[in-house]
Amino acid sequence: MTASAAEMAWFTEARLGMFVHWGLYSLAARHEWVKNRERMTDADYEPYREHFDPDRYDPRAWARTAKAAGAGYVVLTAKHHDGFCLWDSKLTDYTVMNTPYGRDAVAEFVEACRAEGLRVGIYYSLIDWHHEAFPVDGTHPQRDDEEFKAATADRDVRDYQPYLHGQVRELLTEYGRIDYLFFDFSYTHRVDYWGGKGAEDWDAEGLMALIRELQPHVIVNDRMGIPGDIVTPEQYQPLEPMRRDGVEVPWEACQTLNGSWGYDRDNLDVKSPESLIRLLIDGVSKNGNLLLNVGPDGRGRIDRTAQRTFDEIAAWMDDHARSIHGAGPAPWQAPTGTRYTLRGDRLYVHLFDWPFKHLHLPGLAGKVRYAQLMSDASELVPVHIDPNRPAQNTLMGGLPEGTYTLQLPVQRPDTPVPVVELFLTDPV
Ligand code: GLC
Repeated sequence: MTASAAEMAWFTEARLGMFVHWGLYSLAARHEWVKNRERMTDADYEPYREHFDPDRYDPRAWARTAKAAGAGYVVLTAKHHDGFCLWDSKLTDYTVMNTPYGRDAVAEFVEACRAEGLRVGIYYSLIDWHHEAFPVDGTHPQRDDEEFKAATADRDVRDYQPYLHGQVRELLTEYGRIDYLFFDFSYTHRVDYWGGKGAEDWDAEGLMALIRELQPHVIVNDRMGIPGDIVTPEQYQPLEPMRRDGVEVPWEACQTLNGSWGYDRDNLDVKSPESLIRLLIDGVSKNGNLLLNVGPDGRGRIDRTAQRTFDEIAAWMDDHARSIHGAGPAPWQAPTGTRYTLRGDRLYVHLFDWPFKHLHLPGLAGKVRYAQLMSDASELVPVHIDPNRPAQNTLMGGLPEGTYTLQLPVQRPDTPVPVVELFLTDPV
């Protein structure tokens, strides 16, 4: 059973979401897989719980940053693979309540999103490197520790299921309406992780039934090992709209700012705001969403570089949100270096390159009644060229029949991606 088109509507309308990876690993400040990468034991990892005291945790600030950037929803890692819970779970002591911070961070997050009019998403890790019944496998920090493996050899994932289901129940009953659940992840198909786990291990069907019973509207991703409502390409951009069994499905690409999801202090491999804006546009032109991540630091703050990135996206969105929100693919092939998005009777031409003086749009002749640059609503004047006229000297010609040509200023607008807004004679 999947979410209905009506339940999916807010999601496709939003097009942009903010992903927040935040937890004990934010203190290590060297990737959210630090426990795995450094093969840490629970004892090695304990100092992060003992020192988790984010004195600048202000989810309203996160929500405002998301909102300003034009995001419609925020997704927080309530529990990541390390098993630490940011909420007051009654099913374990391994929670935020047993840190110096001592308050339910999920409750504060949910409230902040609602206050800013944003949809609420929860990320929940199916993998759990802390739970005493979670069988050690190729993802586990102790995967090479023979003694540990021998001592835990009788673990049975079925003993973990009630905990997993119980925690999802808590999240769906204690915090009001949740709009989106991002589960992570199944890996029966991964040769690099022995002991891979999937749908059966999570009792995914049972879990999905529980979710539908508690909050039937919630959108569920596709990482439980069974199909969900959306597909979630991670850190790559699909070439075309995504399909399942040949049928187009709603999709959402998740992307980091620097290759790490959790706060990673020394990682300076940042993507430019411009490249992220292009990813967003490219996704919408292929009917997809972008879930753009931020990894707040151990004090709970979004670092300056990340903040600047979101602020630049905000500035672009302030001028161009119309080409993103509620927009989708257009039925025409966009010329090289451009992306089309469409909404009703508006066609948006995103210019990844700034052409010299003219913009030629094949197949659009006779279909446009007005054209403007979005950044300043300045009119762009069409040039009428007889299709049979050959090019000669200063006379442009030799263009394919049906080409619609606009005159562009030589100076490109001062924005990462200029957009031309075309008012079509008929809605598509
Ligand atoms: C991967 C990683 C995880 C991250 C997630 C985001 O599955 O394991 O660290 O949270 O991607 O989609």
